[in-house]
Amino acid sequence: MSDGSETPQARKGGLWGGRFSGGMAPEMEPLNRSLDVDRRLWREDLEGSRAWARALGGAGVLDPDEVAALLSGLDRVSGRLSGQFPGDAADEDIHSLVERLLREEAGAVAGKLHTGRSRNDQVSTDFRLWGMKAAGDLEAAVAGTVGGLVDLAERGMDVILPGYTHLQQGQPVRAAHWALSHAWPLLRDAERLRRAGASASVLPLGSGALAGCPFPVDREALARELGFTSISENSMDAVSDRDWAAELLFAGALLGVHLSRLSEDLLLFSSKEFGFIRIGDGYSTGSSLMPQKRNPDVAELVRGKSARLTGGLMALLTLLKGLPTGYNRDLQEDKSIVFDAVDTLALVLPAMGGALRSTEFRPDRIEAARDTELLATDLADVMVRAGVPFREAHDHVGTLVRLSEEGGVPLSDLPDQTFAEVHPTLGDGAARAAFDWEKSVEARAAPGGTARARVRDQLDAVRRRLDHRTDA
Ligand code: ARG
Repeated sequence: MSDGSETPQARKGGLWGGRFSGGMAPEMEPLNRSLDVDRRLWREDLEGSRAWARALGGAGVLDPDEVAALLSGLDRVSGRLSGQFPGDAADEDIHSLVERLLREEAGAVAGKLHTGRSRNDQVSTDFRLWGMKAAGDLEAAVAGTVGGLVDLAERGMDVILPGYTHLQQGQPVRAAHWALSHAWPLLRDAERLRRAGASASVLPLGSGALAGCPFPVDREALARELGFTSISENSMDAVSDRDWAAELLFAGALLGVHLSRLSEDLLLFSSKEFGFIRIGDGYSTGSSLMPQKRNPDVAELVRGKSARLTGGLMALLTLLKGLPTGYNRDLQEDKSIVFDAVDTLALVLPAMGGALRSTEFRPDRIEAARDTELLATDLADVMVRAGVPFREAHDHVGTLVRLSEEGGVPLSDLPDQTFAEVHPTLGDGAARAAFDWEKSVEARAAPGGTARARVRDQLDAVRRRLDHRTDA
């Protein structure tokens, strides 16, 4: 090779050895090196490099033969990178590795590819390309998990669950309504992920190190070729703008919070004390000591993983907070944070979707757990329908609840006479008629309520959102 690899530093830091006389300190090298993390960007790095070679050709910086030599060299580099990964300890990052391999494949012309380009606009471009794809993949994975909730909701249409506020029984709801209450947050997360992907879709390439590119490259054409929606407007901003990554991490962190809350419900509902659901064997584990144990680990693992997602968002915001204008090497840290969040979500979303599909309701246990106090509001509504002001009705039912507690009888089992004494509108069996689970849920028929028709509307709406996504 006649490419100037004679000085040790040029070999070690192939992209910038010229101004140095000594080698890098052995303690510095592992800190400096990011190849183990950014090797995941190799496809994007090649894609960006191909587009840049053509852009330099278009700008008259390279002649057509040079462009062709670079493109075929990059193809061979692609072949090498898709096999046994060729990086070694002397390769600093994916950009220097690609350039070294290109020099091996294409010879001296490789040295022309970096004209007008910096690793600062290069890494920003690679990372955005990766982020655009990752956001789309995650959005699809969220849709899969929502599909699991739809599946569970179908099984919960005829099951009437105690609905909770303050973790105390409040009013009855269809189990389907509860399941879908977790679908809507996830659909909002999917939309946030989509928007984060759109934020990433701004081309930084052509910004150089910070001041812009001195050659007349067609940045709009570059953007189109690489699939970006627009080009960055300010080169100094472009090399350090990681807003899209923060947005992606926020979308992921909130998604983690939502999955964690869903997990908490699943854990509670699958406990001996509640027993409302049974998560499939495939998502449960046993204990090495206690033979009877059947642990809903899937939900605990998902709840646990959500901590990393919140942490990642905090880490990136903290990383960005004190940076002066322009690229700073701190930014090398951004990738492991985002990769970790995306990997974490790619792990938990399918597991949660599968767990939901495997989950069965246990109507016997649910019925046994329902206290007729859940229908206290319906009892008040009987009076309201007879013209009693709600506040007054609330008070009367409060008295009845106290009497039932004092007498140690369920609210629904108080004698007819007691109902009539507390308020005449509750006499003649009127109170008794309020103690009907089906009637209670069917009464909530305003849009967004738990009546069957409204839950059907919801299911249709969720399915439309999922179909719309697959159309897109
Ligand atoms: N590995 C670097 C990163 O991830 C690439 C950019 C390096 N730029 C530089 N001026 N050293 O950010």
